[in-house]
Amino acid sequence: MTSPADLSLVHDAPSDEEHSFDELVANEQRIEPRDWMPDAYRKTLIRQISQHAHSEIIGMQPEGNWITRAPSLKRKAILMAKVQDEAGHGLYLYSAAQTLGTTREEMMRQLIDGKAKYSSIFNYPTPTWADMGAIGWLVDGAAIVNQVPLCRASYGPYARAMVRICKEESFHQRQGFEILLTLMQGTDEQREMAQDAVNRWYWPSLAMFGPPDDQSPNSAQSMKWKIKRFSNDDLRQRFVGMLVPQAEILGITLPDPDLKWNDETQQYDMGEIDWDEFFEVLKGNGPCNAERLERRRTAHEEGAWVREAAAEYARVSSRSARSATGSGMAS
Ligand SMILES: [Fe+2]
Ligand SMILES: [Fe+2]
Repeated sequence: MTSPADLSLVHDAPSDEEHSFDELVANEQRIEPRDWMPDAYRKTLIRQISQHAHSEIIGMQPEGNWITRAPSLKRKAILMAKVQDEAGHGLYLYSAAQTLGTTREEMMRQLIDGKAKYSSIFNYPTPTWADMGAIGWLVDGAAIVNQVPLCRASYGPYARAMVRICKEESFHQRQGFEILLTLMQGTDEQREMAQDAVNRWYWPSLAMFGPPDDQSPNSAQSMKWKIKRFSNDDLRQRFVGMLVPQAEILGITLPDPDLKWNDETQQYDMGEIDWDEFFEVLKGNGPCNAERLERRRTAHEEGAWVREAAAEYARVSSRSARSATGSGMAS
């Protein structure tokens, strides 16, 4: 005879599909687009990957702003290559998100309607050339620390996109470091400009890792699914550990008076991040939120004819390919 307790056990037992999903994740194998996956896993991935794609695309703007004003032909060529890489990152990621059943149009619509999120860091302005150095060193630097563990994410298309992206991010970080190094070896004014840019970008780059672990509600589930591998605070700590020796080489001061090595914990103690500011920018009240979205919306509208022409070309080409095959068969 079956007691109510047994019944509930029967009810809760995982299906074969759930079981094989759990097993793939546990064995460090990849979940592929055609595999069964829990709805919440799919939704989490669509949200994370599309936000990541949007960040790459919006992230082109603060730097694109400097392409025409880069101080030399060499700097211009490097910056153009870097901004173009970011467009490529956006495209790999939109493609990865599409394998989960969403469409490019849907994601783009959410972005330009202001419904989708993207990294808050891109809502800060870039008033000087030194900002190109600080963004490369700090923003791309934080991106690498965040993204290297994503190369092992459980969802195959996302993990594979991240491998290529991380290689390019490492070039981005070095070019930023090199811009700052050149400025730090220049005049007093150039050194001040570099320090000022680092002062402005340092805290927002630390905030890129997300809220402290005890205020990050989705982290535990993402770690269980092996999308996320390390907690926000662990990654932030790792980032600061990477920056300190590099700042010494640059001769730049990291703008945190509380930053010091702690022998006991074997890591850096650091000051408190201004989370009120972070959440304000996240809510859309950052210095450049409206400008960034407006620019993206305009670019989307002005690009309508390109999308229409490409769609028409694809339609005509497939029709002539079909009729060529048809006549081939008839003859
Ligand atoms: Fe990128
Ligand atoms: Fe980058």
